[in-house]
Amino acid sequence: MLSRLGQRSKHTLVRGIPLVSATQSTRLVLSAGLRTKKPMNPNVLLASRRLAHSNAFTPLDTFTRRHVGSGGEEVDIMLKQVGVKNMDELLAKSIPPSIRSSKALAVSKGMTEKELLERLKSIASKNKVYRSYIGTGYTDTVVPNVILRNIMENPAWYTQYTPYQPEIAQGRLESLLNYQTMVSDLTGLPIANASLLDEGTAAAEAMLMTWQAGNRKKNTFIVDINCHPQTIACLKTRAEAFKINVVVTDIFNYNFDEHKKQLCGALIQYPNTHGTVQDYENLTAAIHGAGGQVAVATDLMALALLKAPGEFGADIALGNSQRFGVPLGFGGPHAAFFACKEEHKRRIPGRIVGVSRDAHGKPAFRLALQTREQHIRREKATSNICTAQALLANMSAMYAVYHGPEGIKAIAQRIHNLTQILAEGVRRSGHTISNDGAYFDTLSIKVESAATVCEKALALGINLRTINPQTVSVTLDESVSKKDVSDLISVFAKDDKPINIDDAATILNNGLNAFPSQLKRTSAILQHPIFNSHHSETEMLRYIHHLQNKDLSLVHSMIPLGSCTMKLNATTEMIPVTWPEFANIHPFAPVDQTAGYRIMLDELEKDLEEITGFDAVSLQPNSGAQGEYAGLRCIRAYHESRGEGHRNVCLIPISAHGTNPASAAMAGMNVVIVKCDSEGNLDMADLKEKAEKNKDKLAAVMITYPSTFGMFETGVAEACEVVHKFGGQVYMDGANLNAQIGLTSPGEIGADVCHMNLHKTFCIPHGGGGPGMGPIACKEHLQPFLPGHPLVKTGGQNAIGPISAAPYGSASILPISWAYIKMMGGEGLTHATKMALLNANYMASRLASHYEILFTNENGMCGHEFIVDIRPFGQYGIEAIDVAKRLQDYGFHSPTMSWPVTNTLMIEPTESESKIELDRFCDAMIGIRKEIQQVIDGKLPKKDNMLKSAPHSLEIMMADKWDHPYSRETAAFPVPGLRERKFWPTVSRVDDAYGDRNLMCTCPSPEEYLDQNE
Ligand SMILES: Cc1ncc(COP(=O)(O)O)c(C=O)c1O
Repeated sequence: MLSRLGQRSKHTLVRGIPLVSATQSTRLVLSAGLRTKKPMNPNVLLASRRLAHSNAFTPLDTFTRRHVGSGGEEVDIMLKQVGVKNMDELLAKSIPPSIRSSKALAVSKGMTEKELLERLKSIASKNKVYRSYIGTGYTDTVVPNVILRNIMENPAWYTQYTPYQPEIAQGRLESLLNYQTMVSDLTGLPIANASLLDEGTAAAEAMLMTWQAGNRKKNTFIVDINCHPQTIACLKTRAEAFKINVVVTDIFNYNFDEHKKQLCGALIQYPNTHGTVQDYENLTAAIHGAGGQVAVATDLMALALLKAPGEFGADIALGNSQRFGVPLGFGGPHAAFFACKEEHKRRIPGRIVGVSRDAHGKPAFRLALQTREQHIRREKATSNICTAQALLANMSAMYAVYHGPEGIKAIAQRIHNLTQILAEGVRRSGHTISNDGAYFDTLSIKVESAATVCEKALALGINLRTINPQTVSVTLDESVSKKDVSDLISVFAKDDKPINIDDAATILNNGLNAFPSQLKRTSAILQHPIFNSHHSETEMLRYIHHLQNKDLSLVHSMIPLGSCTMKLNATTEMIPVTWPEFANIHPFAPVDQTAGYRIMLDELEKDLEEITGFDAVSLQPNSGAQGEYAGLRCIRAYHESRGEGHRNVCLIPISAHGTNPASAAMAGMNVVIVKCDSEGNLDMADLKEKAEKNKDKLAAVMITYPSTFGMFETGVAEACEVVHKFGGQVYMDGANLNAQIGLTSPGEIGADVCHMNLHKTFCIPHGGGGPGMGPIACKEHLQPFLPGHPLVKTGGQNAIGPISAAPYGSASILPISWAYIKMMGGEGLTHATKMALLNANYMASRLASHYEILFTNENGMCGHEFIVDIRPFGQYGIEAIDVAKRLQDYGFHSPTMSWPVTNTLMIEPTESESKIELDRFCDAMIGIRKEIQQVIDGKLPKKDNMLKSAPHSLEIMMADKWDHPYSRETAAFPVPGLRERKFWPTVSRVDDAYGDRNLMCTCPSPEEYLDQNE
């Protein structure tokens, strides 16, 4: 450390800046281009002053100053740059006074980090961590610690953004491709996506895919009664708006021939919810014969031993990959999987990672075309998936990489063998097993009284599933030990006749499996080298870090993506997620075992109500887009309850995020687009005209606030009034809530319901494309309709059906948002909002003399984000994508590109970034502007300059050949600071069009790599 300091001082002297001792209250800071002298962070000064003068009992580990990047003098400098005297003036000039809150946020005072963890530990201790054999799509698992620590608990993985910039995301793209390959192998279907939100919604997506395949004309979808109950409920919710007739029946006795004309498809569960493994081959043929598609909800672990759905003719396979190394988490987050036949590849929902090539012909991964389906198809989309469960998909993929085919088969076989031993023990006690001879890991056991058996189990700390008063089921998993099986046998044994587990284990001597022999898997799984190379912990650790090193995340630099709010995901917020008291709870565990969760959830709901200015909250939706869908469904239910079910028109501004129209369409609404004026504001005249024209049918308007242009529109309250006047409800897209907290709120502005992207405003990390959470908050009149759940009481008195498979969505990440709010307190949250606004205005002001800033208000202010216009450079061949890629050479992730305005960049710094980092980014943008000038001045050719050839990978820099008209040095180190701190893109610019033309979405064979490299 001493020598490093020494080195720095030497450099500083060489550059002519006076040497400053590290003990003085000054420190040296590296910026993108400059070594500057900077006074010690005023927060630190403040803390030391406090130490000297305040009560010695006052704790010092206060959080707000850790969460907010700049303080003290830095704030003064930034305010000065913006041209305002103080924060009050900034706020007065940015936010319309008519919507400013008149009172302070009533959220309790912020806790210190230590206090927070102590309080949460005490709440968590109220959860009872029982052994849960409830199954129903969720089982315990053994999370390999190398994956737990190096992915799930590792900010270099969990702070990544969705890999829309593939050149700096090859690591997670490779891992997601591994996930697709794993799913494709195990399901026996050629095309798999890179995860969906949960099994219930994946089933709903499958239903819609079969409906689309039938040209939206055939409206009957058959669901086997033996599918998981939450899946059936999610399907029904989704089907309503599309008027699909979901028939839940005993599918083996259904006469498909009678329904030939209307049948679009069917869903079966394999093994079914009671554990029965059945041969579906004839059934599949019958469904196909009637013109329907077959979707199979299945279990990846079971498929290691069972014939793959693709091998008995299924068109679609889906399910939850949770048991591949992801904790139960009281319902989530987990990655759902989805695979289908080749012919459906253009209809598959969610993201697909594909293999393409870079500008130099090197193989490279990137997200394939339909990834942005909701943006491309908007109201014609049948899916609104944006944020999914990338981090969890990565964990499951790594689980398969770590265990490999033999390891996975051994785990599956052990689970099955333990289930056979349990079955034998249960039989020896005189019980009948309903699915004897046809199970993988779940036994449905006939008992005299399910209640008595469950009570006996509870006394041993065991949860069973009650199927009916005379049947219980038990689902075993990888974590089960000999003692666990022995305990279970004792639950079923008559008190006077104990069963010896070793005696029961002799059942295995026959060497047979307990399912029909024709269903035994004969095809190989996971043959690709990637699943056969990393089985020691050393190799695994290195593979994880090898991929991690290719990816830029918040551990490297700011990620200023407009509308994405990439703020700090504090370590203290993250720590509780993997505590067993939160991680190891089954979503359908008895209520009295989840008291801790309920305290935390209640407190979170209350705080979110206060922050949004609303009366009730549902924590169920798993993403912002799912929140939109839930909110709009509540609006529809409200209209129906008043005899106004015909209200189905949803007004949406042209600038809205693509998920808005997609969600409206999914909620059964007709979308009417409202124009925006040249300043990016809602065109009030157009809004009034369209609201009036549709007054008899007006259901809702969807408004994003501040707008997607980053503006606090003055007309927002009036827009709400207009829509209310004509009988509509106001849905507020809460993606930009970070600009409102403590200063205004959706409730005060006049909205009726909004969602909150907890993965933006409330610190849940983006995880490379999920997890996320999109709870909704609403006014009292919509509360009765908040989403319910078939197995756990949630929602209002007239609840709409479930939006997610689990009652509280991805419950185990909710402590993150709870902790953020508790540590910031009302004051801290309000301060954060102010700083988010200041940071954006500061950057806009620094960049304004170099680029045109679109859409500032009459005072020249932006909101929490702003748009830089790249269009003027189009005539010189420079597009937004070129600036985005060149930023990678400077070590940054691009801002949001070409949305909401084509060929622009939208920058959102958030409150967490320090002035130093904002300056580093501004310096990079200014440096790029100078490079553009060289092209404008004709000093560099339009087609061959450092922007057009960006990013410059290490391989390209080191190649013998260099025939660009600019130097290698300019390419790689455009500012000196990069010599010390450089992030190298691992491939050159990726060719998207090539990848879409040659869609390949499983791991290419090593030979293919070689071919392309040659
Ligand atoms: C304005 C806006 N609305 C909705 C969404 C969708 O949210 P999610 O990705 O959580 O589904 C986004 C996501 O970026 C957004 O920016």
